[in-house]
Amino acid sequence: MKVGFVGAGKVGCSLGMLFATTQHNLVGFYSRTSSSAAEAADFTKSKHFSNLETLIKECDAVFITVPDDAISVVWEQLKHMSIAGKMICHCSGSLSSEIFKGIDETGAFGFSVHPLLAVSDRYKSYQELPKSLFTIEGEKGHISDIKALLEASGLKYTVINADVKTRYHGAAVLCSNLVVALIQAAEDELRICGFSEEQLSDAIAPLLLGNVNKVLAVGTENALTGPIERNDVGTVQKHLNTFDGIDRDIYQVLSRKTVEIAKRKNSNRDYSDLEALLNTQEDLEE
Ligand SMILES: NC(=O)c1ccc[n+]([C@@H]2O[C@H](COP(=O)([O-])OP(=O)(O)OC[C@H]3O[C@@H](n4cnc5c(N)ncnc54)[C@H](OP(=O)(O)O)[C@@H]3O)[C@@H](O)[C@H]2O)c1
Repeated sequence: MKVGFVGAGKVGCSLGMLFATTQHNLVGFYSRTSSSAAEAADFTKSKHFSNLETLIKECDAVFITVPDDAISVVWEQLKHMSIAGKMICHCSGSLSSEIFKGIDETGAFGFSVHPLLAVSDRYKSYQELPKSLFTIEGEKGHISDIKALLEASGLKYTVINADVKTRYHGAAVLCSNLVVALIQAAEDELRICGFSEEQLSDAIAPLLLGNVNKVLAVGTENALTGPIERNDVGTVQKHLNTFDGIDRDIYQVLSRKTVEIAKRKNSNRDYSDLEALLNTQEDLEE
Protein backbone atom coordinates (compact mmCIF):
# COMPACT_ATOMS: atom_id res chain seq x y z
CA MET A 1 0.00 0.00 0.00
CA LYS A 2 1.61 3.28 -1.12
CA VAL A 3 1.41 5.95 1.56
CA GLY A 4 1.65 9.73 1.43
CA PHE A 5 1.59 12.40 4.13
CA VAL A 6 -0.09 15.77 4.30
CA GLY A 7 1.70 17.63 7.09
CA ALA A 8 5.47 17.21 7.42
CA GLY A 9 5.79 17.74 11.16
CA LYS A 10 6.79 15.45 14.01
CA VAL A 11 4.27 12.65 13.46
CA GLY A 12 4.37 12.85 9.66
CA CYS A 13 8.18 12.58 9.55
CA SER A 14 8.28 9.83 12.17
CA LEU A 15 5.58 7.59 10.73
CA GLY A 16 6.80 8.31 7.20
CA MET A 17 10.33 7.25 8.13
CA LEU A 18 9.04 4.06 9.69
CA PHE A 19 7.02 3.14 6.59
CA ALA A 20 9.97 4.04 4.36
CA THR A 21 12.46 1.91 6.24
CA THR A 22 10.23 -1.09 6.93
CA GLN A 23 8.03 -1.30 3.84
CA HIS A 24 9.61 0.98 1.21
CA ASN A 25 6.10 2.20 0.47
CA LEU A 26 6.44 5.90 1.24
CA VAL A 27 5.52 8.15 -1.68
CA GLY A 28 6.28 11.47 0.01
CA PHE A 29 5.05 14.67 1.64
CA TYR A 30 2.91 17.69 1.00
CA SER A 31 2.85 20.40 3.67
CA ARG A 32 1.72 23.96 4.26
CA THR A 33 5.30 25.16 3.93
CA SER A 34 7.17 23.77 0.95
CA SER A 35 10.48 23.63 2.83
CA SER A 36 8.94 21.40 5.53
CA ALA A 37 7.85 18.89 2.87
CA ALA A 38 11.28 19.09 1.22
CA GLU A 39 13.10 18.43 4.52
CA ALA A 40 10.83 15.48 5.33
CA ALA A 41 11.36 14.06 1.84
CA ASP A 42 15.15 14.41 2.19
CA PHE A 43 15.06 12.69 5.56
CA THR A 44 12.95 9.77 4.37
CA LYS A 45 14.42 9.59 0.86
CA SER A 46 10.99 10.14 -0.66
CA LYS A 47 9.43 12.92 -2.78
CA HIS A 48 8.09 16.29 -1.82
CA PHE A 49 5.01 17.63 -3.52
CA SER A 50 4.02 21.25 -4.02
CA ASN A 51 0.64 20.14 -5.30
CA LEU A 52 -1.66 18.19 -2.98
CA GLU A 53 -3.61 16.49 -5.76
CA THR A 54 -0.43 15.10 -7.36
CA LEU A 55 0.51 13.42 -4.07
CA ILE A 56 -2.98 11.99 -3.62
CA LYS A 57 -2.98 10.46 -7.12
CA GLU A 58 0.15 8.44 -6.28
CA CYS A 59 -1.11 7.07 -2.95
CA ASP A 60 -3.39 4.29 -1.78
CA ALA A 61 -3.40 5.71 1.76
CA VAL A 62 -3.08 9.33 2.84
CA PHE A 63 -2.12 10.30 6.38
CA ILE A 64 -3.25 13.80 7.34
CA THR A 65 -0.66 14.65 10.00
CA VAL A 66 -1.50 18.32 10.53
CA PRO A 67 -2.56 19.92 13.85
CA ASP A 68 -6.02 18.74 14.93
CA ASP A 69 -7.69 22.02 14.03
CA ALA A 70 -6.37 21.81 10.47
CA ILE A 71 -7.58 18.24 9.76
CA SER A 72 -11.02 19.35 8.60
CA VAL A 73 -9.42 22.13 6.53
CA VAL A 74 -7.32 19.56 4.66
CA TRP A 75 -10.30 17.21 4.38
CA GLU A 76 -12.36 19.99 2.75
CA GLN A 77 -9.70 20.12 0.02
CA LEU A 78 -9.30 16.35 -0.31
CA LYS A 79 -12.95 15.51 -0.60
CA HIS A 80 -13.24 17.34 -3.91
CA MET A 81 -10.41 15.30 -5.42
CA SER A 82 -10.51 11.84 -6.94
CA ILE A 83 -10.11 9.73 -3.80
CA ALA A 84 -12.44 6.76 -4.39
CA GLY A 85 -11.00 3.59 -2.86
CA LYS A 86 -8.29 5.41 -0.93
CA MET A 87 -7.66 5.17 2.81
CA ILE A 88 -7.81 8.59 4.46
CA CYS A 89 -6.26 8.61 7.93
CA HIS A 90 -5.52 11.20 10.57
CA CYS A 91 -3.45 10.72 13.72
CA SER A 92 -5.38 12.75 16.28
CA GLY A 93 -5.99 11.11 19.63
CA SER A 94 -9.11 13.04 20.48
CA LEU A 95 -10.85 13.24 17.09
CA SER A 96 -12.48 10.26 15.41
CA SER A 97 -12.85 9.40 11.73
CA GLU A 98 -16.23 11.12 11.88
CA ILE A 99 -14.39 14.36 11.15
CA PHE A 100 -14.29 13.19 7.51
CA LYS A 101 -17.78 14.48 6.80
CA GLY A 102 -19.38 13.15 3.63
CA ILE A 103 -16.64 10.56 3.03
CA ASP A 104 -19.17 7.90 1.95
CA GLU A 105 -20.07 9.98 -1.10
CA THR A 106 -16.43 10.16 -2.17
CA GLY A 107 -15.89 6.38 -2.12
CA ALA A 108 -12.89 6.76 0.21
CA PHE A 109 -12.54 5.16 3.64
CA GLY A 110 -11.80 7.15 6.80
CA PHE A 111 -9.75 6.21 9.87
CA SER A 112 -8.05 7.66 12.88
CA VAL A 113 -4.72 5.98 13.61
CA HIS A 114 -3.22 7.23 16.85
CA PRO A 115 0.16 6.37 18.38
CA LEU A 116 0.12 6.42 22.18
CA LEU A 117 3.44 8.22 22.34
CA ALA A 118 4.75 11.73 22.88
CA VAL A 119 6.31 12.34 19.45
CA SER A 120 8.72 15.14 20.21
CA ASP A 121 11.34 14.98 17.48
CA ARG A 122 10.88 15.01 13.70
CA TYR A 123 14.06 13.02 13.14
CA LYS A 124 14.44 10.71 16.12
CA SER A 125 10.99 9.72 17.38
CA TYR A 126 10.46 7.10 14.65
CA GLN A 127 12.78 4.84 16.65
CA GLU A 128 10.32 4.95 19.56
CA LEU A 129 7.17 4.25 17.53
CA PRO A 130 7.45 0.43 17.57
CA LYS A 131 7.34 0.54 21.39
CA SER A 132 4.00 2.34 21.43
CA LEU A 133 0.50 0.97 21.03
CA PHE A 134 -1.54 2.42 18.16
CA THR A 135 -5.30 2.72 18.26
CA ILE A 136 -7.27 2.38 15.05
CA GLU A 137 -10.84 3.45 14.55
CA GLY A 138 -12.87 3.86 11.39
CA GLU A 139 -14.54 2.21 8.41
CA LYS A 140 -15.12 -1.37 9.51
CA GLY A 141 -15.11 -2.96 6.05
CA HIS A 142 -11.54 -1.85 5.34
CA ILE A 143 -9.98 -1.66 8.78
CA SER A 144 -8.09 -4.87 8.01
CA ASP A 145 -6.04 -2.91 5.43
CA ILE A 146 -4.92 -0.45 8.11
CA LYS A 147 -4.14 -3.32 10.48
CA ALA A 148 -2.03 -4.94 7.78
CA LEU A 149 -0.21 -1.66 7.10
CA LEU A 150 0.76 -1.29 10.78
CA GLU A 151 1.61 -4.97 11.18
CA ALA A 152 3.96 -4.81 8.20
CA SER A 153 5.93 -2.11 10.03
CA GLY A 154 6.00 -4.13 13.25
CA LEU A 155 3.56 -1.84 15.04
CA LYS A 156 1.20 -2.93 17.83
CA TYR A 157 -2.42 -1.79 17.62
CA THR A 158 -5.88 -2.15 19.05
CA VAL A 159 -9.21 -1.16 17.52
CA ILE A 160 -11.50 1.23 19.41
CA ASN A 161 -14.90 2.81 18.76
CA ALA A 162 -15.41 6.39 17.64
CA ASP A 163 -17.65 7.15 20.62
CA VAL A 164 -14.87 6.54 23.18
CA LYS A 165 -12.16 8.61 21.49
CA THR A 166 -12.49 11.63 23.75
CA ARG A 167 -12.45 9.50 26.90
CA TYR A 168 -9.54 7.43 25.57
CA HIS A 169 -7.54 10.55 24.79
CA GLY A 170 -8.32 12.02 28.20
CA ALA A 171 -7.02 8.81 29.80
CA ALA A 172 -3.80 9.12 27.81
CA VAL A 173 -3.42 12.70 29.06
CA LEU A 174 -3.90 11.47 32.65
CA CYS A 175 -0.92 9.13 32.47
CA SER A 176 1.22 11.41 30.32
CA ASN A 177 0.93 15.21 30.44
CA LEU A 178 -0.74 15.31 33.85
CA VAL A 179 2.08 13.28 35.36
CA VAL A 180 4.33 16.14 34.27
CA ALA A 181 2.13 18.54 36.23
CA LEU A 182 2.19 16.23 39.24
CA ILE A 183 6.00 16.17 39.20
CA GLN A 184 5.98 19.95 38.90
CA ALA A 185 3.85 20.17 42.06
CA ALA A 186 6.31 17.92 43.94
CA GLU A 187 9.25 20.00 42.70
CA ASP A 188 7.59 23.26 43.74
CA GLU A 189 6.92 21.96 47.27
CA LEU A 190 10.47 20.53 47.60
CA ARG A 191 11.90 23.92 46.54
CA ILE A 192 9.95 25.51 49.39
CA CYS A 193 11.60 22.92 51.66
CA GLY A 194 15.01 24.19 50.49
CA PHE A 195 15.99 21.53 47.94
CA SER A 196 18.46 22.65 45.29
CA GLU A 197 17.81 22.05 41.58
CA GLU A 198 20.37 19.21 41.64
CA GLN A 199 18.79 17.57 44.66
CA LEU A 200 15.33 17.66 43.10
CA SER A 201 16.03 14.90 40.64
CA ASP A 202 17.87 12.83 43.25
CA ALA A 203 14.84 13.17 45.50
CA ILE A 204 12.21 12.49 42.86
CA ALA A 205 13.76 9.95 40.48
CA PRO A 206 13.83 6.87 42.76
CA LEU A 207 10.31 7.54 44.02
CA LEU A 208 8.88 8.18 40.60
CA LEU A 209 10.67 5.44 38.71
CA GLY A 210 10.23 2.95 41.54
CA ASN A 211 6.49 3.54 41.60
CA VAL A 212 6.04 3.47 37.84
CA ASN A 213 8.00 0.25 37.51
CA LYS A 214 6.11 -1.32 40.39
CA VAL A 215 2.70 -0.32 39.03
CA LEU A 216 3.61 -1.67 35.61
CA ALA A 217 4.88 -4.91 37.13
CA VAL A 218 2.21 -5.70 39.75
CA GLY A 219 -0.69 -3.28 39.19
CA THR A 220 -1.98 -0.30 41.17
CA GLU A 221 -3.33 -2.16 44.21
CA ASN A 222 -0.19 -4.17 44.86
CA ALA A 223 2.08 -1.18 44.23
CA LEU A 224 0.29 1.19 46.60
CA THR A 225 2.10 2.20 49.80
CA GLY A 226 2.13 5.39 51.90
CA PRO A 227 -0.03 7.19 54.47
CA ILE A 228 -3.31 6.71 52.65
CA GLU A 229 -2.84 2.99 52.21
CA ARG A 230 -1.79 2.80 55.92
CA ASN A 231 -4.88 4.80 56.91
CA ASP A 232 -2.72 7.43 58.68
CA VAL A 233 -5.45 10.05 58.97
CA GLY A 234 -3.32 12.41 61.10
CA THR A 235 -0.53 12.53 58.53
CA VAL A 236 -2.91 13.24 55.69
CA GLN A 237 -4.56 15.95 57.81
CA LYS A 238 -1.15 17.60 58.34
CA HIS A 239 -0.33 17.48 54.64
CA LEU A 240 -3.62 19.16 53.84
CA ASN A 241 -3.00 21.81 56.50
CA THR A 242 0.47 22.51 55.10
CA PHE A 243 -0.22 22.70 51.38
CA ASP A 244 -2.21 25.47 49.85
CA GLY A 245 -3.44 26.57 46.46
CA ILE A 246 -3.38 24.23 43.51
CA ASP A 247 -0.90 21.78 45.10
CA ARG A 248 -3.36 21.23 47.93
CA ASP A 249 -6.19 20.67 45.45
CA ILE A 250 -4.07 18.15 43.55
CA TYR A 251 -3.13 16.34 46.77
CA GLN A 252 -6.73 16.20 47.91
CA VAL A 253 -8.29 15.02 44.67
CA LEU A 254 -5.65 12.36 44.07
CA SER A 255 -5.93 11.25 47.69
CA ARG A 256 -9.60 10.55 47.12
CA LYS A 257 -8.73 8.36 44.16
CA THR A 258 -5.97 6.72 46.23
CA VAL A 259 -8.48 5.84 48.95
CA GLU A 260 -10.49 3.96 46.33
CA ILE A 261 -7.42 1.83 45.58
CA ALA A 262 -6.60 1.37 49.28
CA LYS A 263 -10.15 0.17 49.98
CA ARG A 264 -9.90 -2.43 47.26
CA LYS A 265 -6.51 -3.54 48.56
CA ASN A 266 -7.47 -3.71 52.24
CA SER A 267 -11.15 -4.57 52.22
CA ASN A 268 -11.08 -5.30 55.97
CA ARG A 269 -9.78 -1.80 56.84
CA ASP A 270 -12.14 1.07 57.67
CA TYR A 271 -11.14 4.17 55.70
CA SER A 272 -14.29 6.15 56.55
CA ASP A 273 -12.48 8.75 58.73
CA LEU A 274 -9.98 9.38 55.94
CA GLU A 275 -12.76 9.66 53.38
CA ALA A 276 -14.64 12.07 55.64
CA LEU A 277 -11.50 14.19 56.07
CA LEU A 278 -10.89 14.37 52.34
CA ASN A 279 -14.53 15.21 51.62
CA THR A 280 -14.75 17.74 54.49
CA GLN A 281 -11.62 19.49 53.33
CA GLU A 282 -13.18 19.78 49.89
CA ASP A 283 -16.38 21.26 51.36
CA LEU A 284 -14.31 23.82 53.28
CA GLU A 285 -12.64 24.91 50.05
CA GLU A 286 -15.94 25.55 48.22
N1 LIG B 1 3.31 15.13 18.65
C1 LIG B 1 2.71 14.19 19.34
O1 LIG B 1 3.15 13.83 20.43
C2 LIG B 1 1.51 13.48 18.78
C3 LIG B 1 1.24 12.19 19.27
C4 LIG B 1 0.15 11.50 18.75
C5 LIG B 1 -0.64 12.10 17.78
N2 LIG B 1 -0.37 13.35 17.35
C6 LIG B 1 -1.24 13.93 16.31
O2 LIG B 1 -0.52 14.01 15.09
C7 LIG B 1 -0.99 15.14 14.33
C8 LIG B 1 0.20 16.00 13.97
O3 LIG B 1 0.84 16.45 15.15
P1 LIG B 1 2.39 16.88 15.14
O4 LIG B 1 2.81 16.89 16.56
O5 LIG B 1 3.14 16.09 14.15
O6 LIG B 1 2.26 18.40 14.65
P2 LIG B 1 3.41 19.33 14.10
O7 LIG B 1 4.75 18.82 14.46
O8 LIG B 1 3.02 20.71 14.47
O9 LIG B 1 3.28 19.19 12.52
C9 LIG B 1 2.15 19.58 11.79
C10 LIG B 1 2.59 19.80 10.34
O10 LIG B 1 1.44 20.09 9.54
C11 LIG B 1 1.71 21.23 8.71
N3 LIG B 1 0.44 21.91 8.47
C12 LIG B 1 -0.26 22.73 9.30
N4 LIG B 1 -1.41 23.12 8.72
C13 LIG B 1 -1.44 22.55 7.49
C14 LIG B 1 -2.36 22.58 6.41
N5 LIG B 1 -3.50 23.27 6.48
N6 LIG B 1 -2.05 21.88 5.29
C15 LIG B 1 -0.90 21.18 5.20
N7 LIG B 1 0.02 21.12 6.18
C16 LIG B 1 -0.25 21.79 7.32
C17 LIG B 1 2.66 22.05 9.56
O11 LIG B 1 3.19 23.14 8.94
P3 LIG B 1 4.47 23.46 8.03
O12 LIG B 1 4.26 22.85 6.69
O13 LIG B 1 4.46 24.95 8.01
O14 LIG B 1 5.68 22.91 8.71
C18 LIG B 1 3.56 20.97 10.16
O15 LIG B 1 4.59 20.58 9.30
C19 LIG B 1 -2.04 15.84 15.20
O16 LIG B 1 -3.31 15.39 14.80
C20 LIG B 1 -1.71 15.35 16.60
O17 LIG B 1 -2.85 15.33 17.46
C21 LIG B 1 0.70 14.06 17.82
